Amino acid sequence: ARAAAGGGTRFAFPELAAGIDETHHIAEGYDARILLRWGDPVFADAPPFDPHRQSAERQLAQFGYNNDYVGFVPLDPAGRRGLLCVNHEYTNEEVMFPGLGRQDRADFAGTTKAIAETEMAAHGGTVVEIARGADGHWAVELASRYNRRITPLTTRMAIDGPAAGHDRMKTAADAAGTEVIGTLNNCAGGITPWGTYLMAEENFHGYFWTDRLDADGRPDLSAQPQAAAMKRYGVPGRWYAWGKWHERFNIDIEPNEPNRFGYIVEVDPLDPESRPVKHTALGRFRHEGAESIANPDGRVVIYSGDDNRFDYLYRFVSAGTIGADRAANMALLSEGTLSVARFNDDGSMDWLPLVHGHGPLTAENGFHSQADIAIDTRLAADLLGATPMDRPEDVQPGEGHVYVMLTNNTRRRPGDENAANPRPENRFGHIIELAVPEGDHAADRMTWEIIVKCGDPAIAEVGAQWGPATSENGWFGSPDNAAIDAMGRLWISTDQGSSWPRTGRADGLYALETGGEARGSSRLFFRCPIGAELCGPCFTADQETLFLAVQHPGTDGTTSYPGFERASTFEDPATRWPDFDPAMPPRPSVLVVTKRGGGRIAV
Ligand code: FEO
Ligand code: CA
Ligand code: CA
Ligand code: CA
Repeated sequence: ARAAAGGGTRFAFPELAAGIDETHHIAEGYDARILLRWGDPVFADAPPFDPHRQSAERQLAQFGYNNDYVGFVPLDPAGRRGLLCVNHEYTNEEVMFPGLGRQDRADFAGTTKAIAETEMAAHGGTVVEIARGADGHWAVELASRYNRRITPLTTRMAIDGPAAGHDRMKTAADAAGTEVIGTLNNCAGGITPWGTYLMAEENFHGYFWTDRLDADGRPDLSAQPQAAAMKRYGVPGRWYAWGKWHERFNIDIEPNEPNRFGYIVEVDPLDPESRPVKHTALGRFRHEGAESIANPDGRVVIYSGDDNRFDYLYRFVSAGTIGADRAANMALLSEGTLSVARFNDDGSMDWLPLVHGHGPLTAENGFHSQADIAIDTRLAADLLGATPMDRPEDVQPGEGHVYVMLTNNTRRRPGDENAANPRPENRFGHIIELAVPEGDHAADRMTWEIIVKCGDPAIAEVGAQWGPATSENGWFGSPDNAAIDAMGRLWISTDQGSSWPRTGRADGLYALETGGEARGSSRLFFRCPIGAELCGPCFTADQETLFLAVQHPGTDGTTSYPGFERASTFEDPATRWPDFDPAMPPRPSVLVVTKRGGGRIAV
């Protein structure tokens, strides 16, 4: 009976029906409860959430916006108490603030300094203690000494690794080039084997401003000495107007500030007073995440995708090995070898080291030291001939395999395909499985295989590839985050953005079989409300709890939502999930999934 419940896969749950509406849905027999919403208190003395009185000060004591990565650090052996570490990637002004609506990005006329600083306070991360009560339900411990907000407005961070102290890292506020305030656009992340919380800085370019525009309204970089690097990174993106009030985000005034973002940040969640560290040794790019694994030889290996069309997959291998001394472990990300992936047509792949003096990475080509490689990682990877990918998102290592989410790339033209990215106009993405030789994640060479090509298998032109047990509800598009559960099974969350009308289904969580005859078969377990993407699938070690992060509800693609068909605003959102209170806008939230009556999930 159990095998039947899994439809030929190892995942024993009745599959959910695909679709889209105003709320979330979970497979029959499971509960999905709200744990933390945007604006919920993180401290005992935090002010209650009032969307009409929101301010930076209030927001600094409350749960931030757009929860993405979720990590869990247990505080007791039974795992009934622990620290939830949550990234707040970005903000959606149009549904956060009354009267703002969809702004013209040319001038952001509606944004004020107060709004900009509230947004800054809603970015970053939250560490909060949670505990599981006798009733089996998780609750936030508001009085915990561990609770913390990390933001780009307030949190001082150390810069370490090869770029620390380099001239290109120095600014008016930091003449030494070794300290920066805050972290930006923290998408996914990771928990290290020694229990620290890694926050990946993804679309940092969007936060930088210039007043110098060309005739077409695009940034004019002609006066910028670092124009080539800025261009390669998309700086300045002008997605937010913070640079109007905070000069460090204006490249006309502070051209080095962008060089101080785009890294992996390490936070010690056990010490709320600790200064987070930006590790430049892991390179600068649009890091989607930073999932790690302890290699058999004791070194730590971290995989990270650069989420941009035609950008690359990276790997960091520490120089030192993991030991019993936690403080020493926290120095492991300061020194090591960063490599970029080249996928060969014969099913092998090579990790190309980004090391100064090797191959073309010399002064003649503009790389004067390892610091230049740490800052201009993309330019260095270009020179090495890395394989341009279809937007690498989360990369999830397991013991013998690594799963690489490639979310989509509609700009890949016929003729631009390569073996690892075989579909032109790849609207739905695919997932690559790397095979790790003898479990050695530091190996120079691995092999690879595409495990699924996403999209509707019923439409021949899509060119999808799924395992045989995939139902009409089970296929998906745009894989983004991934988790391997306590039983070694793979789960995928999706982010279709505003293109969900192409599939007619909301983003959700899918269980993906990686072995046996059903390899490549997918089953739908949870789906989001309209306009949301799903992030942060995170299982506890006992497999009894699953944390899910529903990001930006009521925003993406609402103009195509039947019966709504307009842009969402604070006053008129496509959904008021999860409160469904006419006085409340939609609120990004973390949910807790448990099996009704208790027990392990999908077993
Ligand atoms: Fe923030 Fe790559 O998704
Ligand atoms: Ca993502
Ligand atoms: Ca993950
Ligand atoms: Ca995404």
